[in-house]
Amino acid sequence: MKATTLSQLRQWKQDNHKFATLTAYDSSFAQLFAEQGVNVMLVGDSLGMVMQGNDSTLPVTIEEIAYHTRCVRRGAPLALLLADLPFMTYATPEQAFASAAVLMRAGANMVKLEGGSWLCDTVRMLTERAVPVCGHLGLTPQSVNIFGGYKVQGRDEVAANLLVNDALALEEAGAQLLVLECVPVDLARRVTEELSIPVIGIGAGNVTDGQILVMQDALGITSGHTAKFVKDFLSEAGDIRSAVRLYVDQVAQGIYPGEEHSFK
Ligand code: KIV
Repeated sequence: MKATTLSQLRQWKQDNHKFATLTAYDSSFAQLFAEQGVNVMLVGDSLGMVMQGNDSTLPVTIEEIAYHTRCVRRGAPLALLLADLPFMTYATPEQAFASAAVLMRAGANMVKLEGGSWLCDTVRMLTERAVPVCGHLGLTPQSVNIFGGYKVQGRDEVAANLLVNDALALEEAGAQLLVLECVPVDLARRVTEELSIPVIGIGAGNVTDGQILVMQDALGITSGHTAKFVKDFLSEAGDIRSAVRLYVDQVAQGIYPGEEHSFK
């Protein structure tokens, strides 16, 4: 078995091979995910909600992401591992660089940050210093207090054009991957077609190059409100290994996400 790399993801984009990714926070699940064909994992700051029980991702610290990154890396040594830069750990390029160093030393292959063109200098600085960067556009949960809730983004033409420009600017600055969260399918298609880097969607329809889900959502164990794009693979498959395999297969076949999981 070989380690999954960014060049592999670029090849998958070219080949139109749709790939499934999951968030992971510990070693046992990371190992299980890898065994079932999940080759890309994210230590997301969603851990603030699903692991810690907070009502947003804002309280998560860099030390917490680093701790979970070390755990996941031990369980999935060959996975392409992304780690989130939490809220207020990348307000300047210098701060981003210091924060990213902590996560790369913990075992991440790449860091993810939320936001558009204002981050270009940061993306350039990280990339030039050997830290691969994944952008995150659309519904960026760290901006929940600006958005006034967890809402679909890019619905009108002005917002959609802004998002496309942000995506192109991040790519131009050196970002090698983009997560697109909660946007209408047509906008997700446009971004995926216009960018040469792979685009991973969540609540963005089945038109992106890859998909990501928070693992608790994919296993139907999230309490409270269930977002439209979420599918409980565990109740359909019956056991955790089969559920993860079903998710991987349905993403590869373009069955998940279906129209019922997508925004028009
Ligand atoms: O923190 C996270 O889990 C994420 C995914 C939802 C993309 O950013």
